[in-house]
Amino acid sequence: MIVIGSDHTGVELKNKLIVYLESKKIVINDVTHFADQTGDDYPDIAWIVSQNVLKNKCLGIAICGTGIGISIACNKVNGIRAAVCTNKYMAEMTRKDNDANILCLGSRLELDNINDIVDMFITTNFEGERHQRRIDKITKIEKSQKEGVNYGDSI
Ligand code: RB5
Repeated sequence: MIVIGSDHTGVELKNKLIVYLESKKIVINDVTHFADQTGDDYPDIAWIVSQNVLKNKCLGIAICGTGIGISIACNKVNGIRAAVCTNKYMAEMTRKDNDANILCLGSRLELDNINDIVDMFITTNFEGERHQRRIDKITKIEKSQKEGVNYGDSI
């Protein structure tokens, strides 16, 4: 399953991606299928997509105008690693190295290879090994802030 959500800027792109992914028999959970999206804000969408990704232990796609705002908000949620990708290489590497669980896309960027970016993101696996050590450090930063501990003391 892939979770998908967008703010008002990304409704058209989101709908195109749903048609594309469903044509590949991928189950899509559209978590922002509101009738009227003119009043939504990307931090709210980021929260909804992030919670669904964590709950279902799956990948997600989050869309705003640039992909930047929604990625900033998603990355505030513990356990989320969200990456804005504008090409296939970024999508590949953020899965292999960062174990990113949310792909953030910009609906106003007019990228012509968006399906390829999505394909790469959802078909590439995390490589683990030395990259796991770095992910563990990200998790430790999250935990240290929750507990009021200075992460810097452990470097
Ligand atoms: C909404 O106008 C716009 O600010 C939002 O979609 C996003 O691009 C923010 O980063």
